[in-house]
Amino acid sequence: MLHRVIYASEAVGATGASTLSIAQILGVSERNNRRDHISGCLMFHGGHILQVLEGRRADLDRLMRRILTDPRHTGVRVLSDMPITAGLLAQPMELCGDPATLLQRIGLACISRVTANEAEAMLDIRKAA
Ligand SMILES: Cc1cc2nc3c(=O)[nH]c(=O)nc-3n(C[C@H](O)[C@H](O)[C@H](O)COP(=O)(O)O)c2cc1C
Repeated sequence: MLHRVIYASEAVGATGASTLSIAQILGVSERNNRRDHISGCLMFHGGHILQVLEGRRADLDRLMRRILTDPRHTGVRVLSDMPITAGLLAQPMELCGDPATLLQRIGLACISRVTANEAEAMLDIRKAA
């Protein structure tokens, strides 16, 4: 059984703002998520973070424990955590390359008020693109 977790958080320091900070997160995530059969998509925009993760319950719980205690971000709010019948994500970890356009497509200026439904709508738009 697959589950999908969607959370939002706030970047600390240069997290998400520098290529190095993004590369560091993506590198470790790619390796770990591949090992744990987790798929993920990560968005940084204006100091806010949105991440969607899909995988098995135990693997997601282990990952969320690490993510919750990671000092590179704060204020983690889980927007949705549900069983799913089919995954929307195909890669262990993808960076959302054009967050401003995706947010604009769903009528939002900022990640800070995004809902789980809106996050899934952005994934659908990405998939269709
Ligand atoms: C915004 C954000 C997203 C992250 N996403 C993942 C992820 O999808 N997978 C992962 O393994 N680590 C992710 N991390 C890193 C973890 O918090 C943690 O540092 C890492 O999993 C530790 O891996 P290691 O024990 O192999 O060093 C993320 C960190 C941040 C700040």
